[in-house]
Amino acid sequence: MSLSAAPPDGLAIRPAVRLRGSPALPGDKSISHRALLLALLAEGESRIGAAGDGEDVRSTAGIVAALGASVDRVAAAGGRVDYRVVSPGGHALVEPDGILDCGNSGTTTRLVTGLLAGRPVFTVLDGDASLRRRPMGRVVEPLRSMGARIAGRHNASLLPIAITGRADLAPIDYRTPVPSAQVKSAILLAGLAADGRTRVTEAVATRDHTERMLRARGISVDESTSPDGAHSVSLRGPARVLPFDEVVPADPSGAAFWLVAGAIHTDAELRLAGVSTNPTRRAIIDILRRMGAAIDETAVPTPGGEGGEPVADLVVRSSELRGIDLSPADVASAIDEIPVLALAAAVAAGTTRIRGAGELRHKESDRIAGIAAGLEALGADIRVEGDDIEIRGGRRLRGAATATLDDHRLAMTFAVAGLIAEGETVIDRPGSAVISYPGFFRDLEGVRA
Ligand code: S3P
Repeated sequence: MSLSAAPPDGLAIRPAVRLRGSPALPGDKSISHRALLLALLAEGESRIGAAGDGEDVRSTAGIVAALGASVDRVAAAGGRVDYRVVSPGGHALVEPDGILDCGNSGTTTRLVTGLLAGRPVFTVLDGDASLRRRPMGRVVEPLRSMGARIAGRHNASLLPIAITGRADLAPIDYRTPVPSAQVKSAILLAGLAADGRTRVTEAVATRDHTERMLRARGISVDESTSPDGAHSVSLRGPARVLPFDEVVPADPSGAAFWLVAGAIHTDAELRLAGVSTNPTRRAIIDILRRMGAAIDETAVPTPGGEGGEPVADLVVRSSELRGIDLSPADVASAIDEIPVLALAAAVAAGTTRIRGAGELRHKESDRIAGIAAGLEALGADIRVEGDDIEIRGGRRLRGAATATLDDHRLAMTFAVAGLIAEGETVIDRPGSAVISYPGFFRDLEGVRA
């Protein structure tokens, strides 16, 4: 066995001779969360096909059920799930009798906070130790200026928080201090319950699933870009969301691990079926191509038809990568893929500079510290200066013990490194992969077979 248990509960990974095949990718996490939450707001029955079945999406599904919807979850192909949600609608949410457990999921917490701010129920949101450290002020502050009543630790900037929802929120015209799809989405969801036009402006356009999905459910969402590139979205409330059937494409952030694995391995050809190529999510493909990665892309019909996302089948082959400069805008558009891109940079010829990566400190772990420690242990030359990361590539990676900090994206990044590093790479606690990609280690075994 090339993938074996290593004490105490770590996982030892040895290099793969070749990589072939087609990993069963998870359903997109961002879309799965939103489909469940919009199904809660829509009175009647919504269906969500091929959703992601990671722990984060399960946290959202649990909250949707606790707020009064009936949620049926049926196993589907490739480790995905189909949901059927029947909801009383956003105007008739049920006040839950317990705490809403957001688990490890920042997206669940922030989107649910926005959704509940304008609904007349009292709720308490909590999460695991990682989530209790993550900043919530970024949603609480704008929501409070809409009139939301939110209490919690450190002036409600940290979980647990309590929301006393009210039906009379005021609309807001808000410019986000950091580009964040979670903040934008939280405000838009609150805006559905506010009387008038709510607008959110960001310096860089972040993932736009909420906007697309609201439109597909009968809400008109306006967009504009100012001469300085700032991007605004707005909607007029109060507005009712209609039920909708959605089919979820494969998650480009899950595909990213295989795109990098294929590009850095010397004998690789991996096929990735049905991946979302939404312009606000595809940066990982384009950045890897800028580094010289051989990635073929064939557009395929949108699953579920109109209202869905652009989707493609991808093929990645062994490539000669070179280092590049990544701007703060690149970081914002590939925010979840920076850890695995740093691995690609460690192997690439030349130097990669990643500027303005400070947001990575506020994810499931401090990903700047985690990626630097893990890649350094594997022999990479990586320096951190403030919010910038410089990686001098071309080093031969050697297997070593890596610390995942219980962060799913670090665990999967170090596992991919193990496919090419000499000797044995040990992932200390690999279990966090279930957060976004429950089948990851099975797929890892599959592609090396
Ligand atoms: C997400 C947005 C991103 C991303 C997260 C999912 C979303 O967070 O890191 O994994 O679904 O809206 P930020 O919006 O805070 O950057």
